[in-house]
Amino acid sequence: MIEEATADAFDGVDIVLASAGGAVSKRLLPEAVKRGAVCIDNTSAFRMDPTVPLVVPEVNPEQLRKHQGIIANPNCSTIQMVVALKPIFERFGLKQVIVSTYQAASGAGQSALNEFFQESRDYLAGKEMTANILPTASDKKHYPLAFNLLPQIDVFEEDGYTHEEWKMIHETKKILLNDMDAEDLKVTATCVRVPVPISHGESVYIEVNDEKATA
Ligand SMILES: NC(=O)c1ccc[n+]([C@@H]2O[C@H](COP(=O)([O-])OP(=O)(O)OC[C@H]3O[C@@H](n4cnc5c(N)ncnc54)[C@H](OP(=O)(O)O)[C@@H]3O)[C@@H](O)[C@H]2O)c1
Repeated sequence: MIEEATADAFDGVDIVLASAGGAVSKRLLPEAVKRGAVCIDNTSAFRMDPTVPLVVPEVNPEQLRKHQGIIANPNCSTIQMVVALKPIFERFGLKQVIVSTYQAASGAGQSALNEFFQESRDYLAGKEMTANILPTASDKKHYPLAFNLLPQIDVFEEDGYTHEEWKMIHETKKILLNDMDAEDLKVTATCVRVPVPISHGESVYIEVNDEKATA
């Protein structure tokens, strides 16, 4: 059965998988929790809320026990990185992580993917490309992704990082150290949108605390 996602639509629902944007999650998930549901949220709405566990099942499943109705999952680029980092972190400790990402058009949603395909068709037909979405819909200026690279994902923060980069830094700290601002692990990220429809890649440089540690 398909019905409109209103507060009352969650009556009798046990598990909610939410992925309709942060604003929708913020509005509806507290209503679903009130009605007894456990919500797993794919958006960034609750990831930094100290009462909400940020969980990657292969990395920190023990955090699930602390949930109060909402469980967040991290950004896609953070997920694939922390799965690889976890065994190294456990055995050697981590001092520093420097990550560069190569992120596909699909990460910006269906409308960005449609625009990317249209730009590609236009470019190959010798027509001018029109961009209205990327790097981020809320910006005034937009650039084509087709046959291009965009070193900006989401809006810029005051410190010069983009919000996507900010998320990778703080989500990694929250998942590995349970503290989004942990200072004993240094993380920096550079996130780039690349002209492919699907598949994110990343290059990760790390420094460990103790190279000689044994299990
Ligand atoms: N954790 C991750 O790795 C990750 C990765 C990608 C995206 N995300 C997050 O997931 C969310 C969706 O991203 P996306 O790429 O899938 O975007 P998208 O392609 O734009 O899809 C959004 C979907 O949400 C639906 N929707 C919008 N408002 C709704 C409402 N009020 N009630 C029910 N459904 C509604 C839309 O339905 P219509 O098409 O009918 O409008 C559409 O199917 C975003 O918050 C994004 O940041 C997370």
